[in-house]
Amino acid sequence: MTKNQIIIFDTTLRDGEQSPGASMSLEEKIKIAHAFQDLGVDVMEAGFPAASQGDFEAVTEISKILKTTTPCGLARALKNDLEKCAESLKHAKNFRIHTFVSTSDLHIKHKLQKTREEVLDLIKFSVEFAKKHTDDVEWSPEDATRTDPDYLCKTVELAIKCGAKTINIPDTVGYALPNDYERIIKDLFNRVPNIDKVVVSTHTHNDLGLGVANALAGISAGARQVECTINGIGERAGNAALEEIVMALKTRNDLMPFSTNINTKKISACSKLVSSVTGFPIQYNKAIVGKNAFAHESGIHQDGMLKNSKTYEIMTPESVGVKKSSLVMGKHSGRHAFKEKLVSLGYPDFSEERIDVAFKKFKDLADKKKHVFDEDIAVLIDDDFMKDNNIIKLISLDVSAGTKGQKATLELDVSGKVSKTQQSGDGPVDSIFKCIKEIFPHDVNLQLYQVHAVTEGTDAQATVSVRIEEKGKISVGQAADTDTLVASAKAYINALNKLILKRKRTAPTDDEYSAAV
Ligand code: KIV
Ligand code: ZN
Repeated sequence: MTKNQIIIFDTTLRDGEQSPGASMSLEEKIKIAHAFQDLGVDVMEAGFPAASQGDFEAVTEISKILKTTTPCGLARALKNDLEKCAESLKHAKNFRIHTFVSTSDLHIKHKLQKTREEVLDLIKFSVEFAKKHTDDVEWSPEDATRTDPDYLCKTVELAIKCGAKTINIPDTVGYALPNDYERIIKDLFNRVPNIDKVVVSTHTHNDLGLGVANALAGISAGARQVECTINGIGERAGNAALEEIVMALKTRNDLMPFSTNINTKKISACSKLVSSVTGFPIQYNKAIVGKNAFAHESGIHQDGMLKNSKTYEIMTPESVGVKKSSLVMGKHSGRHAFKEKLVSLGYPDFSEERIDVAFKKFKDLADKKKHVFDEDIAVLIDDDFMKDNNIIKLISLDVSAGTKGQKATLELDVSGKVSKTQQSGDGPVDSIFKCIKEIFPHDVNLQLYQVHAVTEGTDAQATVSVRIEEKGKISVGQAADTDTLVASAKAYINALNKLILKRKRTAPTDDEYSAAV
């Protein structure tokens, strides 16, 4: 290991699983263990074997499969804990036992109900006992950041004397501030005489949202191992997030010239796996792995991104395994991004005027809808295309519906002549279709009327499909609108317009027709 290599110690399966509601099955843990080994995790804390039979089995099975990652189990300073830990890890060629005891006066007095002297005895016992099973022993003074600094130095020196190879400094309750945590680690380097014999590790909780900041502060102070979890899951507000630490080191290598064994391209997949297994959704704006981490909606940002992605991205989405930045189309999106979106949707040949028209419609839609999806844009453009060839155009529609009956008032432009009518029918849709028939008389069979939402949510665009038949000629119309009844009227009119085109042609096939429109 080089001086500037940071050991990534993942505790998703142990501290992460301690998140309320995040328990995982054995199969799920095994799946995660494989994925994390591929990710390049150096040490994996697979569980707390004395805590439950399930944890014991998980550590046992995981220790059988890991090859390049060192399996580790957690144990209190108790003989039974340490024996169970060693027993569950014995299948691995090399394994680590992580043992801990509280060192803050608060914990010693109220939780352990012991004295500082008794705790020193426990440290000696636990580290020496673990040492009988493996050379790779890690020791943690629980609640280190609220421990009297002189006593902390004493405990750390003792654990090293007893054979610990890694000294982990937990900010158990997420209390430390970065300069505080940095000072605690620096103090150990300055005051513990045998500190050069061990790797110092960070273990930082996120109660004040400082887990990652504290881990980085620890590295600056000389720590060379970080304990972390994917997606930052863990007790209460969680642990420092692996992906954030690793990407901070990679992205700001100019200020923090450290490397890890993590294959960052696998981060996104591991994050999704942990989220699906635990059922914990990833917050949209979560750094690195959130849905919006590489999404841009504002027009200014989208324009910059299209010119040079570095304008608004400090790392590439590909570097963390996300395929591409997404330009989220919404009311803040600009014309440049809209034009690119049209090209990506397969509409490359639009004139600038046509783009202007489509862009205006898109903005109108975006004012009504929070998210405008690709399908929404495609429907909008297709609708627009038919309009250029339309004989019949919808001008206005009013529908009243309810328990007292339904009626529609509809205004159509047919070849430039505007007419209006009002009709009642069996329901609002029937009333609309009757109005259309009144203004534009025709004799067709309505073969299908179908409504489906193009996108999710109550503000989804409804797409309506209508199939009509006239003397063996079939015509299918489609339209979308956030108002289902407007979409119904448009779809029916769309089908009629296509039928009119069909009537003009001498025996066109449906395929020819589809290709033509
Ligand atoms: O937060 C903590 O103190 C722990 C220890 C067991 C290391 O998780
Ligand atoms: Zn912890």
